[in-house]
Amino acid sequence: MNEHTEAPPPHAVVLQMLTGMWVSQILSAVAQLGVPDLIAAGTRSVEHLAEECSADASALHRLLRAAATVGLVVETAPAEFALTPLGETLRANTPGSLRDFVIAETAPGHWLPWGRLVDAVKRGGAMTKETLGLDPWDYYATNVEEGRCFARGMSNLSAIASADVARVYDPGDAKRIVDVGGSEGVLLRGVLSRAPNARGVLFDRADVIEGARGAVANSGMADRIELVGGDFFTDMPAGGDLYLLKSILHDWPDDKCEEIVRSVHRGAAEGSRLVLVEGLLPDTPQPSPVTLMDMNMLVMLGGRERTAGEYTALLKRCGYEVERVIPTGGMFGVIEAKRI
Ligand SMILES: C[S@@+](CC[C@H](N)C(=O)[O-])C[C@H]1O[C@@H](n2cnc3c(N)ncnc32)[C@H](O)[C@@H]1O
Repeated sequence: MNEHTEAPPPHAVVLQMLTGMWVSQILSAVAQLGVPDLIAAGTRSVEHLAEECSADASALHRLLRAAATVGLVVETAPAEFALTPLGETLRANTPGSLRDFVIAETAPGHWLPWGRLVDAVKRGGAMTKETLGLDPWDYYATNVEEGRCFARGMSNLSAIASADVARVYDPGDAKRIVDVGGSEGVLLRGVLSRAPNARGVLFDRADVIEGARGAVANSGMADRIELVGGDFFTDMPAGGDLYLLKSILHDWPDDKCEEIVRSVHRGAAEGSRLVLVEGLLPDTPQPSPVTLMDMNMLVMLGGRERTAGEYTALLKRCGYEVERVIPTGGMFGVIEAKRI
């Protein structure tokens, strides 16, 4: 190793980890100001960008220098910026966009509970009631704009995940596919694209379904998707032969997961299938991005990430036999179970 390839000293690595907090907010500020879309549309000088996004020109220049340091933009000439592939992901409504997810994760609904992580660890539960006054779903129903941004942010992630799921998972001859807690229905649409004869039911809280109407109407699949608002603990749409639960069980502790799965079981047709799409913790101790999401679940919801074996045991307690665990190649795994 020469001096250029030597690993940085531990203090430098830890300082870089710590300033991840600043970097998250830099991403968010760039995204909220709409700078990536303005640059993509041809505005490159700080002076004009500042005018178009109503920002202080000097402060915006400093923000963009910092954004250049972490690789979101490059300063191609003094006070002129171009987007990098990383910065492209902060554009709105483009394939692979993470813009809404970035904004939602750095907004008060997530930022304030994360500020109390140590208390979540001491207590072994979420810090949302203390910091937001409400559980996250009621907070988002009350803070409508932030809630819609979170729903679009879930769609950002689900667009990436559902392409992976649609590639590896064949829904077979399913005719009525219910996406439980499906938000804007991105996964449902991905699965329906592989099942041309099936119809879908998008089921979520009534406030979330209201917000999802536009996304479904513009999806080209509106005529195949029924929208149902309700509570998945009590109001499960009946008669589905395939129930999808993506990023639902990880939100909840085991006893609540069992209530949700039993609710699916009550509504589901005999011989029907249930498909979980979740990040799967490795079976043996090793680094995994799912361990970081596990912290998000702890501090936000008192939920947890699980291994495939833990999901298998949980489903078995609720009347489901796991038949297949399919890796997607991405962060998520697909667990298919049969109703017994
Ligand atoms: C983490 S998001 C996952 C959304 C979607 N499945 C996805 O992966 O993009 C959890 C979803 O559960 C919904 N949810 C929470 N509590 C619910 C309830 N009691 N009944 C129905 N939906 C609920 C939320 O509104 C939210 O859309």
